[in-house]
Order: sequence, then C-alpha cells, then structure tokens
Amino acid sequence: MTTAANLLPLQGKNILLGISGGIAAYKSADLVRRLKERGAEVRVILTPAASEFITPLTLQALSGNPVGQSLLDPAAEAAMGHIELARWADFILVAPASADVIARITHGMANDLLTTCILAANAPFAIAPAMNQQMYKNIATQSNLATLISRNIHIYGPAAGEQACGDVGMGRMLEPLQLAELVVAFFQQSPKPLTGLKIAITAGPTREAIDPVRYISNHSSGKMGYALADAAAKLGAEVTLISGPVQLTTPAGVNRIDVVSAQDMYQAALTAAPEHNIFIGCAAVADYRMAEVSGQKLKKTADKNELTLQLVKNPDIIAQVSALTEKRPFTVGFAAETENVQAYALQKLQSKKLDLICANDVSVAGQGFNSEQNAVTVFGHNLQQSLTLQDKTTLATALIQLIVEQYKK
Ligand code: PMT
Repeated sequence: MTTAANLLPLQGKNILLGISGGIAAYKSADLVRRLKERGAEVRVILTPAASEFITPLTLQALSGNPVGQSLLDPAAEAAMGHIELARWADFILVAPASADVIARITHGMANDLLTTCILAANAPFAIAPAMNQQMYKNIATQSNLATLISRNIHIYGPAAGEQACGDVGMGRMLEPLQLAELVVAFFQQSPKPLTGLKIAITAGPTREAIDPVRYISNHSSGKMGYALADAAAKLGAEVTLISGPVQLTTPAGVNRIDVVSAQDMYQAALTAAPEHNIFIGCAAVADYRMAEVSGQKLKKTADKNELTLQLVKNPDIIAQVSALTEKRPFTVGFAAETENVQAYALQKLQSKKLDLICANDVSVAGQGFNSEQNAVTVFGHNLQQSLTLQDKTTLATALIQLIVEQYKK
C-alpha cells in the first residue's frame, strides 16, 4: 500500500546539511534535492572551503532557505542565529566531510559556523567522509573516526573507487541517493525501548563553600550517575543529568546541567523533576553546609588550637521531589552506607517516601565511591533484588531496566 509516509518519509523532519571543502561538494546540490523530494526541510551550512567548490546561490535555490556561511554575519544571525539553527535540526548530516572537518568535530572545535552548530546541537548526527584514499587511511583520520563512532555518531561510507586526484581506493563520498536513503533509514529504525520516557538523574558530589578557597565535599566521582545517564540515553530515554563538579564527559545525547552546591542542585532538581517520568538521586549530596560562608579566607590564629565550624542542614532534594503533589516523578534514591546497610536503606525508603532505593555498601573496597565497579540491592515496597559486583556501565543498564520495569507496574 502506498502511504504518505512511504512517499514522503522525511516529512516534518528538519535536516541541517553541512558541506565542507572537497570536490564531492558539487554532489551535495543533488543531495539537497534528494532530501527535499523525500519531504525534508533542508538548511545548508557551507564551510569557507566548501564555498570554493559550490556556490551558496545554487544551494539556496535548491533548499529554498538562506545558506549559512559565517558565524560573524550579523544579518544571518538576526534571521536564524547559530544556536537557533542547532536547535532547529532534527538531524545533522555533514556531506562531504573532509579530513579537516572530521578532525575539528572530533576535537570539539567551534571555529566556523558548521562546527559551532554541531557543538551546540543535541540532534543525532552523521558524517559522510570524502577525501583522498591516503588521507582516509591515515592513522589520525582513522583515530578521529573511531572516536566519533564511540560517541554514537553515524559514519556513512566512504565508498571505494577512482578518485578525482587519480588515486584509486577508499574515500569517495556515497552517492546522494544512498545518503538520502540512509537518513530515511535512520528515522525508520524501530524505536528504542525507552523512547518517549524522560529521566532526570543527579550525579557526583556537591561542594559546600567554607570560605573563598575551601569547601566541604565527598569522594563521589560521578561515575555511577553518568553510567546511568548513558545507559538510559542509549535505551532511547530523554535524559537530564544534574551534575555536581566531576571530571567526566557528558554522555552522548544527554542534557547536562552543572551545579556546585546542594542548594544549586536542589533548585535544578526541583525545576526539572516535574517534567520527567522518573527521577534518580545518585548524587552524594552534602547533608550540611556552612551557616555562614566567610567572605575572606579563614586565618589560622596563633592563640587557638581548635576551629569550630557551624553547619546547617541542606534541603533534602529527593525527599522534596518525592513530596511533589503535582507531576511527581517515580522517585528512586541511593543509600550509601558503611554499616547496617539494609536497615538504613529501608529507613530512607520510608522516611523520604521513595518508590525504590538502591542500597550501596560503600565499606567494601573496590565498589561505591570513585571505583570502576559497584554492587547494589534494590528495595521497593514489594521488591528486593541484588545486582552483584560488576562494572558501573553494565550495572547501570541492568538498573535502568529494573527501574523502568517497576515504574511501569
Ligand atoms: O559517584 P561515584 O564515585 O560513582 O559513586 C557512586 C555513589 C557511591 C555516590 C552512588 O552509588 C551512591 O550511593 N549515591 C548516594 C550517595 C549518598 O549520599 O547517599 P545518602 O545515603 O547520603 O543519601 C540518600 C539519598 O538521598 C540519595 O539518593 C541522595 O542523592 C539523596 N539526598 C541526600 C541528601 C540531600 N540533602 N538530598 C538528597 O537528595
């Protein structure tokens, strides 16, 4: 049966096409047509090198939209600024992707309009490499491509064959028709199991300032919370990660909000929580903060051997999330304990009115804080399930699946 979806499989999809410098750029004019005839709305960005190979006028005529060329063009920025353009895109395709643009994307550079939009975008994204076969084989290019693959970026092609420079080998851009069909296939993939689910996760430590140079904190590295965010995003959930100060990169596709203190985390969590189906509190939040933060560095005095700091209680973030009366998410806590693990975890499940709690025995070496591995027992009102010692990535996938199962009950 012929349906509109068959005829126009990209209808309603906004495709941002980035064209970088290379002889294959002339084929991108046909690619615009192929995407448009499948129903897509197409906007094009040319790198400065690309505009040596193809004119913006051609691409403007074919796409029906102005072509972006410069980050520093006030007229273009006023019409649709680079951040707006990055948000507009449902999918970004860079075709052809030269060795140079691949290197710049890999290293997070933002030195032209295209790379800036890519850095600012949260949309899925693919590149179609096109370059001389030796440049493609070069270890630098191969290592850049491997890095992009590890970030879930799709690599379309290249094909092998005769090249414009006379060489023969890998490095030809895929044909426009093939590329357009790969974009269609991307949107037609069966939805991932957590598609449509929104999950907010807190991770890492908080820092409570004592004075301008000192703070109270703990050993949380953020690894467990980041692994949960990564696993949920890979399963298709829309993930917001509210993160204390950590040395970790944001998992692909995850929306990260950076905070420092418990009060910052409280604000961010209470704003995000009602917009999510599930809230997971994996952060090690400081229970207390300074009653008053000193405006100047506290001085050591010659006459006293003791220093007393007066602390006050921080808000209990997860208890407040769980107490929401409107749009309350399914609320999951962690309990990091060094003794009476089960009893204390069950107390927290009750007192914070949580749906689930992950009891984490942090007295055992090699698990819990700042380790690669972890083990938890998940308690619910009619549930007790142990997940034995394993690396945090694997554990996170099992935990997310268990949490979602319980949420759906
Ligand atoms: O970050 P890693 O190095 O990977 O380590 C992971 C971890 C050990 C930090 C993690 O697995 C873990 O156990 N996190 C919870 C740590 C903790 O502080 O637990 P708690 O028992 O103090 O708190 C209980 C629950 O209340 C937690 O969900 C916590 O996020 C939440 N809480 C606590 C205090 C507070 N003021 N607000 C909160 O929301």
